[in-house]
Amino acid sequence: MFEVTKACGAFMKLLEEQLDRVAGMKDEKTDFSTKECVTIGVIDGDGIGPIITKQASRVLEKLLAEEITAGSIKLVYIEGLTIENRMACGKPIPEDVLAQIKLCDVLLKGPTTTPHGGTMESANVAMRRELDLYANCRPVSIPEQNIDWMFYRENTEGEYVLGSRGIELPGMAVDFKITTDKGTRRIARAAFEYAKNNGKTHVSIVTKANIMKKTDGKFTAIAHEVAKDYPGIEVEDYYIDIMTANLLKDPLRQKFQVVLLPNLYGDIITDEAAQIQGGVGTAGSANIGDKYAMFEAIHGSAPRMIERGMGEYANPESIIKAAAMLLRHICRGEAAAKLEEAMAKCTVEVKSDGTAATAAQYADALMELL
Ligand code: IPM
Ligand code: MG
Repeated sequence: MFEVTKACGAFMKLLEEQLDRVAGMKDEKTDFSTKECVTIGVIDGDGIGPIITKQASRVLEKLLAEEITAGSIKLVYIEGLTIENRMACGKPIPEDVLAQIKLCDVLLKGPTTTPHGGTMESANVAMRRELDLYANCRPVSIPEQNIDWMFYRENTEGEYVLGSRGIELPGMAVDFKITTDKGTRRIARAAFEYAKNNGKTHVSIVTKANIMKKTDGKFTAIAHEVAKDYPGIEVEDYYIDIMTANLLKDPLRQKFQVVLLPNLYGDIITDEAAQIQGGVGTAGSANIGDKYAMFEAIHGSAPRMIERGMGEYANPESIIKAAAMLLRHICRGEAAAKLEEAMAKCTVEVKSDGTAATAAQYADALMELL
């Protein structure tokens, strides 16, 4: 059948592209402890993005004032990653914007809007791919409930890498999920290294390998191979469905420390985990590669808040937590700790219904504590 032949041709091209992607994976590491000048790019995003990002960059400017003056840190503001601009040029990241991004070492990014359907790829997914940001690290901590979780979500493969490249035949649609040895090994290594360096003794590998036998089967097998290099760390396998239940189950959930998962499961479960912590507005997210890294809020651009005229009441805590992760990543641990302590102390509350402080009022109060 002509349609099937055409689909097979498209599939062949995708497979070749993916093999090329793996062959091109580099491991050029940026060493921030010795880098003379670190360039931080700030990107507003869409919807509530500019509102919350502005507050986070005010905080960074204050914390890093001395280094900015001395020239060891450069803050640059990158414009043009808006949904309007992206739709106009038909690219998830306009080329001139991508060029500016690549001149930075790390990025602080506001949420960007992803159109439903169509073929326009999400700016987030494109950025993770373009900068090869393979580790999505999302901490969730509730000290009073003895919860301290770190999610290591694979960020460049799985259901996402070809998510905008599915194939349609009459009466049928097909999407693809890709798991590679190299891609899995590097995220597993990152998770176990994190565990080792932070005194963690438990890693959960979460998949649906009973159903997704090839891809999740590979993910599990390679994660266990990597685990052999970390004899002090207990490793357990869970399926994603029961894991979503386990996160709600006391005292079981208190034993989870590092959770390693493929892309889509990681996407879903980290929203659940953030909600347990107090809402998606409260969780930060780091997208880490060997060369670049990007830090963002885990939530979206909340267009409904803008429509209701409530944008000023968007909670900036998530992106400010992401800013703290950025500081730690560029070896500014002291500034990161200072910011985290101030956040823990800050009693000002932001509520999306407008009954409490605005994003700017929260940041004002926070900066008083720095
Ligand atoms: C996230 C978001 C993104 C994702 C969207 C905005 C593409 O939900 O960072 O978790 O699905 O990864
Ligand atoms: Mg998500």
